[in-house]
Amino acid sequence: MSDRFKRRDFLKGAMATGAATAVPFSLVELSWGAGGTPESAEAQNFTFAYISDSHLTHIKGQNFNENFDGGLKRAVTELNFMSPKPDFVIYGGDLSQLGKKEELDHGLEIMSGIRNLDVKWVIGEHDYYLDLGKYWQDNISDLYYSFDHKGVHFVVLNSILTYDEWTHDRWPTAMERMQQMARLDNPEGSPFMVGREQREWLAKDLEQVSKSTPIVVLSHSPLYQVYKPWNFWTDDAAEVQQILQQFDQVNVLHGHVHQIMYNQIGNITFQAMMATAWPWPYPVSYAQHDNSVPKTTVFMNRADPHNSRDGTGWGSVDLITGRETIHHTLWRNTNRTIAFSEEKGHPVDSKYQKPKNQIPPQDHY
Ligand SMILES: [Fe+2]
Ligand SMILES: [Fe+2]
Repeated sequence: MSDRFKRRDFLKGAMATGAATAVPFSLVELSWGAGGTPESAEAQNFTFAYISDSHLTHIKGQNFNENFDGGLKRAVTELNFMSPKPDFVIYGGDLSQLGKKEELDHGLEIMSGIRNLDVKWVIGEHDYYLDLGKYWQDNISDLYYSFDHKGVHFVVLNSILTYDEWTHDRWPTAMERMQQMARLDNPEGSPFMVGREQREWLAKDLEQVSKSTPIVVLSHSPLYQVYKPWNFWTDDAAEVQQILQQFDQVNVLHGHVHQIMYNQIGNITFQAMMATAWPWPYPVSYAQHDNSVPKTTVFMNRADPHNSRDGTGWGSVDLITGRETIHHTLWRNTNRTIAFSEEKGHPVDSKYQKPKNQIPPQDHY
């Protein structure tokens, strides 16, 4: 048995430990792909954890929505029990519900319970549209940046920008703007975008990176277009993809959609991570509109609309020969494994991809 597969077995063991307690964060293992020697593969492997979409909601004074607090606290607690420890933690955005100082401070306080691990932050629209990221930048993180870790180039993007006119000229107060952008199905909303400034920065950042270097892009919204009325959408996604397509192995991990979703566009594999707060339904299960849920994505069987934890959970991602295999562990539902199929050229659900095995989408949302 190769070292790689031993490591995968080990990771599965670690996952099983986590599964017993069903925590809503994701473990990500990156493995050096084809062409590496066993020694270099050993050197390049690492794991990071991923937590997203906690939506901490301030009520009054010191009171916050305890259900949402509970999701994030549980993730942090479990993360501290991980053995071996991950190399670092990604937070995928929407730490707060309305971008309030109280909410972001509360999030930082809970996240500070993570022991001895660096956190890499991705901003979500719920963190941004009150003060346009000022408190975030002053106290948490830059809005976009890149870093290298053990031979992998990571890029963090702020993908939830929109038109200047919508942002600056339309709303009487900052909170009104925030509340408009916080709504899911809002005709007064505006589509997300990365924007010219970041696209130019991205192209320049990647000039220094060899085409064979694995790239991991961390965004909040999907860097492709799923469903515009809910802003499961990035308006300039095609232009961002064009910059990324020159690389052999590109993996985009995003939050925002609060559900398992996956797609393949050219060399780019897209995977959504679950939320610690609540699941969103798939667009097609809610609205009788045309939608573009990826044809590779199989609907989760979210059977119980009264169970707010059905559809939240955690998972792990292995990058084997540059392709993702994601093991999703759900709190109140069937676990899922999504692996890239060389034969089909896109990710495939190991159990449910075949139509005869699929559970029909729920339509009672
Ligand atoms: Fe969210
Ligand atoms: Fe979001």
